[in-house]
Amino acid sequence: MQRVQFLKDSFTGLDAFHKQIVIGTGVATGIALVYILHRRRQKVQTIPLGEGWWGAGDKPRSEDESINSFEVQTSDDEIKDLHERIDKTRYADPLENSTFQYGFNSTYLKSVASYWRHEFDWKKQVAMLNKYPHFKTKIEGIDVHFIHVRPTTHKNLKVVPLMLVHGWPGSFFEFYKILPLLTENHNGLTFEVICPSIPGYGFSEAPHKQGFNSLAAARIFLKLMERLGFSQFYLQGGDFGSLITINMAQMKPQCVKGLHLNMFSSRRGLKVMMSILIGSYLPFLVGLSREDVRRLFPFFEKNVWEILRETGYMHIQATKPDTAGCGVNDSPVGLAAYILEKFSTATNMEYRNLADGGLERKFSLDDLLTNIMIYWTTGSIVSSMRFYKENFKGYLDKRVDLRMKVFVPTGLVAFPMELMHCPKSWAQNRFTNIVSYTFMPRGGHFAAFEEPRLFATDVIQFVKKLEKL
Ligand SMILES: *[C@@H]1O[C@H](CO)[C@@H](O)[C@H](O)[C@H]1NC(C)=O
Ligand SMILES: *[C@@H]1O[C@H](CO)[C@@H](O)[C@H](O)[C@H]1NC(C)=O
Repeated sequence: MQRVQFLKDSFTGLDAFHKQIVIGTGVATGIALVYILHRRRQKVQTIPLGEGWWGAGDKPRSEDESINSFEVQTSDDEIKDLHERIDKTRYADPLENSTFQYGFNSTYLKSVASYWRHEFDWKKQVAMLNKYPHFKTKIEGIDVHFIHVRPTTHKNLKVVPLMLVHGWPGSFFEFYKILPLLTENHNGLTFEVICPSIPGYGFSEAPHKQGFNSLAAARIFLKLMERLGFSQFYLQGGDFGSLITINMAQMKPQCVKGLHLNMFSSRRGLKVMMSILIGSYLPFLVGLSREDVRRLFPFFEKNVWEILRETGYMHIQATKPDTAGCGVNDSPVGLAAYILEKFSTATNMEYRNLADGGLERKFSLDDLLTNIMIYWTTGSIVSSMRFYKENFKGYLDKRVDLRMKVFVPTGLVAFPMELMHCPKSWAQNRFTNIVSYTFMPRGGHFAAFEEPRLFATDVIQFVKKLEKL
């Protein structure tokens, strides 16, 4: 107390000029301290790469690291079996006027099944899938599938490697419409694209051991890029692809030139609490834009009740995927209902109120059924569902939760119908270097599949910004 009094007295004793010097020095020291603390907080943290082996049985001494080309194939037997099963489907009548409120409307499901049985041409779709070169290579004991698309021309062009990662219940096929757009010439820039299948999804082998989560997938995809000879590249992801590419950027930030995400969330700290409480009245005080307000509020309706209504599957898959998977792995029509319901409500939640779930408003049945066939023919729905269980275990691990920041240059694109909106001011809690943040005028969760042009344009502008083109 005396010391404080002494300081006060000596300060009062100074003349105006010296007072200014003392204050000035104090302020400067304060700024320097804040800056140093800030820099310390911003110091790039990384997630340890770790290691794993997911093959059946014991780990062998060495592993074949060759990259082999692969073709999607089918057979008359496979198609005959599918048709027989579709013919034998047993349906339950929907409740009157229930539309998609109780889940997939089975009257409409019959017409989807009828198209699948009589008009859908799997052989033609297989040829279409094979128009890009497919490969497989063994990593950590399992065969990893990917397509590798080179630009149409690269004369005098800067060719940028980019990996696109899908989620559940999607596949590498979600990106087929943006591939021709990305591999064009964009004023001197073009892309060389790698689209892998997450292990356990489609043509990538399913892990045989427990614990395969987004960290393991991230490490495997980093090894894949290294094996392909890329030391620096861009990443794009939504859904589980977002989780995986974020983990990749956190493991090897030096390899990731930029991370582009169409689904992202942040930690719910004080700032977020404040914007939930007062954001709809005083958005400018908490850093929300008018568009943020439109997308976030009424908060509980949009971010709690809607999410509870639409995510029952997540709870099942995060707890007992093998039980829930029995039926859908055995019945193609059951599988289609289970997966396509997501393509309805995740594209627009209001589609619940349409008799046909609005499915064909944005997608063709050929495209939707091709994605289903990737799950059906490979029998991979159960292993794809297990990824929820493994990742929910992972959330208990501090290293992968929302507190772990992302330091690489990041591009965020917010489609209006995405399940949950995350304003830029919230995302800044987690992504320390946001290079671009775009509000899209339309589109939902499966954005690359639904709005390929909007999607590709945003990826291109993001990379151009970073490449200074
Ligand atoms: C159900 O829909 C039909 C038209 O499709 C309509 O005539 C009928 O009134 C509706 N019933 C109820 C209970 O809303
Ligand atoms: C289910 O969809 C069909 C259109 O395919 C529609 O005619 C029927 O009314 C719908 N049923 C319910 C219960 O909404």
